[in-house]
Amino acid sequence: MKTILELLEARLVAALERAQIEVPEGFPIKVVPAQDVRHGDYQANAAMALAKRLKMNPRELAQQVLEALDVEGLATLEVAGPGFINFTITESAWSDKVAALFHDERMGVSLVEEPQNIVVDFSAPNVAKPMHVGHIRSTIIGDSLSRIAGFLGHKVITDNHIGDWGTQFGMVIYGWKNMLDQSAIDADPLQELLRIYRAVNSLCKEDPSIKDTCREELVKLQQGDAENFKIWEQCVEVSKIGLNKIYDRLDVSFDHWLGESYYNQALAPLVKALVHEGLARESDGALCVFSGEAMPPKQDPFKEKREGEWVDFPMIVRKKDGGFNYATTDIATVDYRLNEWNAHKVWYVVDARQSLHFQQLFDVSKRRGCGAELEHVSFGTILGKDGKPLKTRDGDLPQLADVLDDAIKASAAVLEEKSGHLPQDEKDELAKLIGIGSVKFTELSHHRSSDYIFDLDKMVALQGDTAPYLQYSYVRVQSIFRKLEEELALDPAAVKVSEAGEVNLARTLAKYGEVLPTVLDGLKPNILSSYLLDLAKAFHSFFEACPVLKSEGEQRNSRLILCATTGKVLKHGLSLLGIQVPERM
Ligand code: ARG
Repeated sequence: MKTILELLEARLVAALERAQIEVPEGFPIKVVPAQDVRHGDYQANAAMALAKRLKMNPRELAQQVLEALDVEGLATLEVAGPGFINFTITESAWSDKVAALFHDERMGVSLVEEPQNIVVDFSAPNVAKPMHVGHIRSTIIGDSLSRIAGFLGHKVITDNHIGDWGTQFGMVIYGWKNMLDQSAIDADPLQELLRIYRAVNSLCKEDPSIKDTCREELVKLQQGDAENFKIWEQCVEVSKIGLNKIYDRLDVSFDHWLGESYYNQALAPLVKALVHEGLARESDGALCVFSGEAMPPKQDPFKEKREGEWVDFPMIVRKKDGGFNYATTDIATVDYRLNEWNAHKVWYVVDARQSLHFQQLFDVSKRRGCGAELEHVSFGTILGKDGKPLKTRDGDLPQLADVLDDAIKASAAVLEEKSGHLPQDEKDELAKLIGIGSVKFTELSHHRSSDYIFDLDKMVALQGDTAPYLQYSYVRVQSIFRKLEEELALDPAAVKVSEAGEVNLARTLAKYGEVLPTVLDGLKPNILSSYLLDLAKAFHSFFEACPVLKSEGEQRNSRLILCATTGKVLKHGLSLLGIQVPERM
């Protein structure tokens, strides 16, 4: 189904042709939603931009275009201001649109014309280290972008590139051998691994000889020592079990879990190839990739300024001690994703602090002929109410599982006030749905590159730009249908929208298909979040101004169809954010 915006753009292009106005090649002919609906629903400023190019009077040009525009039945037109063309969609066109949306299982959202293979690299916590709230952002943003891209028709491949091979394993293996509590590892593997990691970490600080022992354990692991390898395998295995518990709570899943260790065998040959390709060379005993010298130093991720001078800032691909690192693994990972999955795009949903690493990685990949579009989908920090990075009372980074528990508790309190009468098990389920939904919506309603303050009370409130507000809006729609006494036979062919509240709701519903694809423009799920808030608000204003159950006949039919379509779009949009809705609350 074409969106109204697409229809108008097509008519506009046809009008320019009909009026024999010469449009320069590649000149954008765009229609946008009007800022102020009192002047129309959509607006085009093409005439103004064109007039400038063609040295014509913009109002005159707009008038010519207007006369050539065929929007019979779809819209009425006016030229406004210095040469805007305003489109006011007719009531009958809104009615047709609502009827079409009511039927359409895609709710007016078209599939992309050229589906691409998109690898989404997200979550990717480090084994034996806590999955803290920083990973929450990656997990939630990555999951939502994957869902949206998939719905738009792309082939999405989700990959959890966990940090399952790194220097932490020296300490973890030492701890595993000397202080493991077997019952604790069975009960809560992430917690126990974290405990031993922390304990050994502080032992190392007190006693340098333990630090040496840990380093030896690491070297043994890297050299394939059977005992250490077995311990490592067990650590990874129990970690996955622990992580999966959290992913289940979050309703997040992955097509693959190809962690860093998966690429171990590929690293030595890769580095050899890098040297052979002339990309890496020796420096101070290490092998490094240096700048391609193809851009000014200011933009070059392989340069940094030291004491007023630009100096090399290479990417180390083999350390002095012969070990490979995070960067080497990431280069190998790009190869794998290109070769095995034929990736057209890779989205790395990772903290902004890794920006330089990704700039280097992308530059190296390009120099190696990678044709895929690699993108760092970066995000900022979650702050406490004091405006500083969120910490627990002990000064640690809060753990994801605790954050979820707290959010669920806070929602339970809100629910008790509002829905105290519901049976306890239903209230428990609701608290989970709302608590988890709140954490997700808070994340997804902020622009990802900005920091935001984690305010539990605000995020679980029923009022405000929150998940529960949206979930409640959906419930409100559902309750209308529960109150219906008769068996319902809605007739979309008879839909007529005319009152302001109805038109406004229809207009907002029709926008779903226009807004959703734009989320991928800057990879910003917050665009969908704010759309859903607009939809909920449009619904509430409609519901206040236009009685539904008390209306009759054709009007009742139309209003019920508006309600049903609203429920459908709300539920669907929230599902693309990874948020579930209850049927009552
Ligand atoms: N494990 C890393 C971390 O927690 C994130 C990995 C992101 N993905 C990647 N391909 N580098 O910081």
